Amino acid sequence: MTFAAARPLSGSVGVPGDKSISHRSLMLSALAVGTSRVEGLLEGEDVLATAAAMRSMGARIERDAEGVWHVDGVGVGSLLQPETALDMGNSGTSTRLLMGLLASHDLTATFTGDASLSKRPMARVTEPLSRMGATFTSSPGDRLPLTMRGASPAIPLEYRLPVASAQVKSAILLAGLNTPGITRVVEPVPTRDHSERMLRGFGAELDVEVEANGTRIITLVGEAELKPQNIVVPGDPSSAAFPMVAALLVPGSQVTIGNIGLNATRAGLVDLLREMGGSVEIANPREVGGEPVGDLVVTASVLKGVEPDPARAPSMIDEYPVAFVAAALAQGRSIFRGLEELRVKESDRIATMAEGLRAIGVAVEELEDGIIIEGSGGAPLMGGGPISTRLDHRIAMSFAVAGLASKNGVTIDDMRPVATSFPGFTALLRNLGAIE
Ligand code: S3P
Repeated sequence: MTFAAARPLSGSVGVPGDKSISHRSLMLSALAVGTSRVEGLLEGEDVLATAAAMRSMGARIERDAEGVWHVDGVGVGSLLQPETALDMGNSGTSTRLLMGLLASHDLTATFTGDASLSKRPMARVTEPLSRMGATFTSSPGDRLPLTMRGASPAIPLEYRLPVASAQVKSAILLAGLNTPGITRVVEPVPTRDHSERMLRGFGAELDVEVEANGTRIITLVGEAELKPQNIVVPGDPSSAAFPMVAALLVPGSQVTIGNIGLNATRAGLVDLLREMGGSVEIANPREVGGEPVGDLVVTASVLKGVEPDPARAPSMIDEYPVAFVAAALAQGRSIFRGLEELRVKESDRIATMAEGLRAIGVAVEELEDGIIIEGSGGAPLMGGGPISTRLDHRIAMSFAVAGLASKNGVTIDDMRPVATSFPGFTALLRNLGAIE
């Protein structure tokens, strides 16, 4: 599919529900005793993989209307042995969080995934979960396919995160739910805190202490009893990132993207784009379902290059690909460092972005832990392709945005991965007038 130079984007749109919150809402609802209701659930392939897995372990999960689902949970500790392997598709979050959830259950589960997921490292979760008593038989390199035997009872763990990863943190906390005693995670660099917020919302005893240096100590009391909830999922800031950058880059654009989650552990891209000179206003700030939410009003702007502090990385970890596209149209050079985690996402996002940006006429230098990008100063990118998206939804959408700001258009080899997180992405661009 080719994305070509766009007319100004205008109008008011929403984006699908937050992927991280959607996964967690299904998992915790499935562990509560009684019926939970979820509104605004992301109906993307990744979340549907979580739903299928929870169903195969005894939860009843049904769709009532678009985005509206209800879940009859089985209770912490009462998940059933799945009869077949759990197919995680492309979803690292489903895989790692479910490994944690099941690690303290008396069952055996096999996890499989697509070619992208089967390349991603799992030792970061199997290592701490092994200390809790679970055992693993993994494919070489601690990868999928992988079979786990859960521990019952599991051994409580105190664990200091060696990588800034909300998936690892969440895996341990979810394992702690069915573990006697106290599970503690020490997080030197804060990562998205949806698990902590939602566990508390479901009635788990969870405490967060923040030390003077910013280290967070999360304490969970095990053998929790979760009470069913009504959850409202905000729009995904990681999906809003694409129309937001597109509106900044296409001259004359002004768009409103409504109902977006603005949790500080997720909102790093808004701060970065503002530092670059982007006009992004937040209208109607409010709280919905325990998460800060607002409407983003974005006006096309002349951007300048940046050298962002790597400490910001976790708050915009999934937004770097599209931030690189913004940098490609900025005035001057941008230097991104401290991003080694990008190499183990759905694709190696440093290499995939460097290769794709070069192919459409951008001067880039790939670094071990980041990238240097020479901005065009606002002049349209040359364009070209086809871009290899390597089963990575965010690569596909980032280059679609680049195409809108190009002279000759950008061709993407495969838009199918977009269905994992953002069904309706091209329809949204059409609604904003960006494509025919
Ligand atoms: C996620 C955490 C992040 C992020 C992913 C979703 C989550 O991964 O990249 O898309 O829902 O916890 P890491 O924990 O690997 O940083």
